[in-house]
Amino acid sequence: MPESTLQEWLIDARGLLCALSTPITASLIERAQKLSVISTISVGVDHIDLSAASCAGIPVGHTPGVLTDSTADLTLGLMLAVTRRMAEADRWVRGGHWATGWQSDLLLGTDLSKAIVGIVGLGPIGEAVVRRLTGFGCSVLAWNRTPKALEGTQMVGLDEVFEQSDIVSLHTALNEETTHIASAARLASMRPGAALINTGRGLLVDEAALIRELSVGRLTAGLDVFTEEPLAANHPLLALDNVVLLPHVGSATTATRLAMVHRAMSNLHAGMTGERLPYCANPNVYTASPSRP
Ligand code: DGY
Repeated sequence: MPESTLQEWLIDARGLLCALSTPITASLIERAQKLSVISTISVGVDHIDLSAASCAGIPVGHTPGVLTDSTADLTLGLMLAVTRRMAEADRWVRGGHWATGWQSDLLLGTDLSKAIVGIVGLGPIGEAVVRRLTGFGCSVLAWNRTPKALEGTQMVGLDEVFEQSDIVSLHTALNEETTHIASAARLASMRPGAALINTGRGLLVDEAALIRELSVGRLTAGLDVFTEEPLAANHPLLALDNVVLLPHVGSATTATRLAMVHRAMSNLHAGMTGERLPYCANPNVYTASPSRP
């Protein structure tokens, strides 16, 4: 929706229910004088100017908790798809290339069970990914802004995660500090043949640098999120065989999406009836004095 249309809609609105694809900017918030709640159907709130909302005294609701397992499952799916070349193999079969029977060297991949997996960000989703990897028998390295003790995981520095892992998986929230946390230099430091998995946010990765690494065949990747979504029809990633591409479906199971909508509606309802939001992303709004009269 163009920002100008949303701005018109918000002139009289008391509540806003939105999703990831609509940026809720400071200027929209400033002009929406009657707005008393913003409720997003997502756990991530990087599309909303949180400090503008807090300044205006508007609570922002989100949907933590309910999408942790679905997103962790999809992350493991991407790890397997990349290491065992599943999407590439599917394209190969459909392309009519399977002319001889079993071949000993056909579409060889690597073993997830023998991999060193590096986790960047041990929030609920990062932890859920670690629990699943333990079942696969992987060695797990992890970095978290605040160090954590997690069974079966060796905490290391951020650079070490990139340098020492066969698979690096990104699970931090997107903010100023984490934008391009997978920088050109960190991608260049990854082991040849290593894989980058991203089910967090596209801007966690320097996408241009990743494309360079993928184009020369030095890295592989599994991506559910991108710098710009949807991917343009001529996007360079579409031409590469060593990357598995998904359309931001980490939480896309029927049960999870229903649970997200349920949380978002509870937030909306609470905000519009003057109650405290059950899942508030800017709880400081309840203690700070708003700049809006
Ligand atoms: C979120 O909720 O932030 C996910 O990216 C979409 O499910």
